[in-house]
Amino acid sequence: MKILGSEITPYSTYLNRRKFIKGTFATALATTISSNVFANHQASPDIYNKFLGENDTINSYEEITTYNNFYEFGTHKKHPSLNSGNFNPNPWSIKLEGLINNPQTIDLEKLLSKVTVEDRVYRLRCVEAWSMVIPWQGFQLSELIKIADPLSSAKYIQFVTVLRPEEMPGQQKRTIIWPYREGLRMDEAMNSLTILATGLYGHKMPNQNGAPIRLVVPWKYGFKSIKSIVAIRFLNEQPETSWETLAPWEYGFYANVNPSVDHPRWSQSTERRIGEFKRRETLMFNGYEEEVAHLYKDLDMTKFY
Ligand code: MTE
Repeated sequence: MKILGSEITPYSTYLNRRKFIKGTFATALATTISSNVFANHQASPDIYNKFLGENDTINSYEEITTYNNFYEFGTHKKHPSLNSGNFNPNPWSIKLEGLINNPQTIDLEKLLSKVTVEDRVYRLRCVEAWSMVIPWQGFQLSELIKIADPLSSAKYIQFVTVLRPEEMPGQQKRTIIWPYREGLRMDEAMNSLTILATGLYGHKMPNQNGAPIRLVVPWKYGFKSIKSIVAIRFLNEQPETSWETLAPWEYGFYANVNPSVDHPRWSQSTERRIGEFKRRETLMFNGYEEEVAHLYKDLDMTKFY
């Protein structure tokens, strides 16, 4: 996707000057995202004050779209941007299935007309100990859960990525067991921080970032934020997830960002923010402790990593 520098610069400049944002954010957004990618897009200045730390600045569009993990397009950080050109995410639908009152295959356009798309700037902390700050557009997963109307027996949700080896060259190799799968506990899925993102920087989701719709769970390691979702299943048991299946001693189901529980092969106490030289201290729950710590008060986080 070609983005004009003139479209991006003012947006990121406003976002980075937070004091200035407070009064002028709505106008700034209206002028810089005037292409109206999302009919029901809503600017929400509070989000920036609430979810962006004092020391955070937004990563550039270039950084966010050329340094990716999306094994369906290859294992190198450059591969997703280079190899995703033949992926066609239009039209798109998502299958809602399992323990729900309203099983259906819902067209993405129709889904977007039923939910509230808003801005969320979140830190994304990858398990490989790098991080970025990304301005997403998306809606709360809880809105889609309400549409599905789960039975009381539904305790977990599983997400499945599209399987299209002809468009996703990485799927022609046996790097992981395809399709990529992830999961959340129902209370994690219902948390207001958890979103399904359909865009970033005010533009439709680029292929390499998980077009047309991907999960974003900001307090968990990046691998939980599954891309290009085609199915959402409501289950009564903890679902199988790709990385845990592949290497359970390295990757757990919970994957909460936790500086005091190291990965067996490297420390999780610090991280490299893409675009910076000096390493940063990793924050508990990636800095979202206030919003999510209560979900794990009875969980031994060294055992359930
Ligand atoms: N989803 C799918 N389907 N396939 C993947 O390989 N990689 C995950 C996650 N979602 C991945 C995926 C990992 S490890 C990370 S860190 C994030 O996507 C990266 O998201 P980004 O490229 O938009 O920064």
